[in-house]
Amino acid sequence: MAYNLLKGKRGIIFGALNELSIAWKVAERAVEEGAEILLTNTPVSIRLGSINHLAERCGAIVVPADATSVEELEVLVDKALEYFGGKIDFVLHSVGMSPNVRKNIPYEVSNYANMMKTMDISAISFHKLLQVLYTKNAMAEYGSVVALSYLAAQRTVEGYNDMADAKAMLESIARSFGAIYGRKHKVRVNTVSQSPTMTTAGQGIAGLDKLFAMADDLSPLGNASADDCADYIVTLFSDLTRKVTMQNLYHDGGYSQMAITPSVLEAYGKGRE
Ligand SMILES: NC(=O)c1ccc[n+]([C@@H]2O[C@H](COP(=O)([O-])OP(=O)(O)OC[C@H]3O[C@@H](n4cnc5c(N)ncnc54)[C@H](O)[C@@H]3O)[C@@H](O)[C@H]2O)c1
Repeated sequence: MAYNLLKGKRGIIFGALNELSIAWKVAERAVEEGAEILLTNTPVSIRLGSINHLAERCGAIVVPADATSVEELEVLVDKALEYFGGKIDFVLHSVGMSPNVRKNIPYEVSNYANMMKTMDISAISFHKLLQVLYTKNAMAEYGSVVALSYLAAQRTVEGYNDMADAKAMLESIARSFGAIYGRKHKVRVNTVSQSPTMTTAGQGIAGLDKLFAMADDLSPLGNASADDCADYIVTLFSDLTRKVTMQNLYHDGGYSQMAITPSVLEAYGKGRE
């Protein structure tokens, strides 16, 4: 159901690779709620994925940009301001990649060139994006910038590798930049800590199938899907959450507050026998 929550609002959405992507669902939901959007991804993801198909469905344009390049982000934001004919109301940073994860290099023997890339793509790109938006004064008052995070930023999930460190930094950037951006331009900055989700990036995490099933069992409400995530993020882009900033917001069916349930205890007991 649509509520016109984003009627008249305009936003940039990073990270729609294919229809499994969380950003894909957010793009569809934002348009359903009345928003006008601009889509962006790296040139290689645009070529290999299906973002152009999404753009057609959403009546959006696609502007290529590597989120680690300040120059490309500047061009992107300039194009968005021109395309929208005014300031930007919301931005989704749905970007992540770890070469160490991709190459199955365990955390304890990390390759540091890879780790630097993980940090740049998955965390520092968020700072770069915020800095470009801030410097150009491109966001409308009470505009909303949201990035996607994961519980491994706070609690160790073995196998999540250096992405855990990147997510911890990402959440910290949301707080640090959010304080400055809020005071100066009344712009909100938050992260959403999402359940394990079967996307292309998600499937790169060691043992995602089992992690997904275990989280689903432990969460009182079950795992949050990419569609659920889109619903939540649309509220964060809307005027209904104007005083929410500098937060890491768990969107995980309650998983982050759980320790154990009878069903998980029983399954573990059977495995041990
Ligand atoms: N899937 C999960 O289980 C899960 C859980 C919590 C958080 N997240 C986070 O959600 C976000 C979106 O991931 P997803 O699960 O939808 O997977 P996805 O693979 O569909 O999206 C990841 C996106 O990052 C983009 N990207 C990679 N390098 C980039 C760069 N240099 N510049 C610009 N874009 C770049 C990719 O092209 C891709 O579109 C990521 O931040 C991810 O860490 C995912």
